[in-house]
Amino acid sequence: MSHADDHDSSRRDFLFYATGGAGAVATGAAVWPLVNQMNPSADVLALASIRVDVSLVDPGTQITVLFQGQPVFIRQRTEDEIALAREQDADIDSFPDPLARNANLPDDTPALDENRVLQPPEGSAAPVGAWLIQSGVCTHLGCVPVGEGAGDFSGWFCPCHGSHYDASGRIRRGPAPENLPIPAARFIDETTIELG
Ligand code: FES
Repeated sequence: MSHADDHDSSRRDFLFYATGGAGAVATGAAVWPLVNQMNPSADVLALASIRVDVSLVDPGTQITVLFQGQPVFIRQRTEDEIALAREQDADIDSFPDPLARNANLPDDTPALDENRVLQPPEGSAAPVGAWLIQSGVCTHLGCVPVGEGAGDFSGWFCPCHGSHYDASGRIRRGPAPENLPIPAARFIDETTIELG
């Protein structure tokens, strides 16, 4: 993907849903220190959990929510994206970070795609593996990677120093040391995810 495409992708995907009911803010900024200047209020930073309406997050789309002052990507992957991530599992022995980094699972859980996704709620039309919820902060120096399908592994790409994450948000190339972390999350009904 070209740099121009990356840029377009970052603009399209970078939508913050304010947690205090104040509406949404769209920005093209791709560098977390700049975003941080939005200075979320202390009460928003302190929230132990937030609930996110994902009813409009269709397959192949992603929203970014601000949770405890940091961006979190919530993506409903397509069947093709899930299949790609499962194919990429085959290279797990060469992953820079072999751990799932999933706050919902034990620390030593391997980085297989099935260990990084949130199971859809009962009765959901979404296939197993559709929901990928992960930190939107690069594990190198904190920039915000750009959209699904970016980089050499069809996942996320961090333009600051060239880290490539795959379709499951696992670091595959570049200076970032760890996979994008998975926060504590659960569905509390068919269209609502609770983070934290
Ligand atoms: S901050 Fe992402 S590669 Fe350096």
